[in-house]
Amino acid sequence: MSIKLVFGTQWGDEGKGKVVDYYGEKADIVVRYQGGNNAGHTIKIGDDVFKFHLLPSGVVRGKISVIGNGVVVDPEVLIHEIEELRKRGIEPKLIISDRAHVIMPYHKILDGAEERFRGKKKVGTTGRGIGPCYSDKIARLGIRMGDLIDPETLRERLEFLIQLKNRIFEAYGIPERLDVDEVFEKYSEYGEYLKDMVRDTVEFLHMSMDKEILLEGAQGAMLDVDFGTYPYTTSSSTIGGGASTGSGIPPSKIDEVIGVVKAYTTRVGMGPFPTEQENEIGKHLCEKGHEFGTTTGRARRCGWLDLVVVKHALRISGATSIAITKIDVLEGLSRVKVAYAYDIDGKKVDNFPANLRDIGKISPIYKEFEGWNMTDREWEKVKEEGMDALPSNVREYLDFIEKETGIRIKMISYGPAREETVEL
Ligand code: GDP
Ligand code: IMO
Ligand code: MG
Repeated sequence: MSIKLVFGTQWGDEGKGKVVDYYGEKADIVVRYQGGNNAGHTIKIGDDVFKFHLLPSGVVRGKISVIGNGVVVDPEVLIHEIEELRKRGIEPKLIISDRAHVIMPYHKILDGAEERFRGKKKVGTTGRGIGPCYSDKIARLGIRMGDLIDPETLRERLEFLIQLKNRIFEAYGIPERLDVDEVFEKYSEYGEYLKDMVRDTVEFLHMSMDKEILLEGAQGAMLDVDFGTYPYTTSSSTIGGGASTGSGIPPSKIDEVIGVVKAYTTRVGMGPFPTEQENEIGKHLCEKGHEFGTTTGRARRCGWLDLVVVKHALRISGATSIAITKIDVLEGLSRVKVAYAYDIDGKKVDNFPANLRDIGKISPIYKEFEGWNMTDREWEKVKEEGMDALPSNVREYLDFIEKETGIRIKMISYGPAREETVEL
């Protein structure tokens, strides 16, 4: 039995949902460990498409699904997601950590207000209250799932917190005021609905160490609050290490760390993106890859694969293998480029800088490849015979990724469906 971790190596939307669904077949338990409903993970099974924001992707396969302590939970969204799934005939086997923090109405209001204050320098958040909820967690001003399901504690926390938030609204010039009774009534109902699912997930996971556990990351390493393009990041630890703090599973127990690498790069929201292509190439990637946000519907910015980014992500997460996704989207391009280093002020750099000013000076150094096209029959052959059956142009592209990163490719995804996957 083993514990596998799947995380994003870029700016999110790498296809983590699909990869988790693929490995989910053999898993007993699937765990979300950070982020909230800023995430949007898509799974395609036959003609059915599922989009999950909070529920771990394992729910579609009927696996035990855990929302870990590192996740921030909007109860309204979670209940909606559970109800939608029930309508589709699936009863989620869900367990929610009593330590997970709750996104409250004031978090959503403050998310919008902070973005307005940032003006031109806005982050382009999903507006779901993620940043303010994590801020309150760190400031020890949060409400946790264990508090939500205990009316007495909820009331006590709200009496103090709503007073504080209303004062902040006033100082910020936000016209809204929240009422303790109203918020209490609504949120204690959510608590009542969810209470049987809330428990000590740390205890549960430690009792289940002999099972097959899959840890499902959200966002990507470049959105990590420490290692990403700060301040244009999300507010959680999206790298491999986040899985331990967000679930209570110690690092030494994690057997495999799989970095999901989209064959090109996308980014939603603002912030630096060195290999961005605001041209016909970007248009090709956006259209062929259907690059529109799962959560907000925004068009994703598109560009070439950036191995400086990927190497940074794999290194800090301790990746043991790579899953390449959306390789099919590169088909139809006559030439394909990959950045493997940067030129900054005339110096060759191959690690990702921390400072926005340095990042702004990046000129990517590319290697070029001949394009390719592959038929389903050719992919079937790769499934039977392995990498050697790949046409030489694709092979060169993938070999370059392995050589530069020093990490082996374990899986290739060439379409959104479950079957469009080769395991190597
Ligand atoms: P996540 O947030 O990392 O789970 O990724 P999203 O679900 O937000 O975005 C990935 C999108 O690409 C979804 O619409 C998937 O159905 C789709 N997808 C996943 N893998 C592949 C692939 O190999 N090829 C193509 N064409 N689409 C894919
Ligand atoms: P998945 O799990 C892509 C981005 C937002 C914004 C920044 C901060 O589907 O890969 P936030 O609302 O988190 O405060 O926004 O992070 N972002 C994502 N981009 N995929 C995601 O999740 C994202 N979650 C947040 O667009 O730039
Ligand atoms: Mg997504």
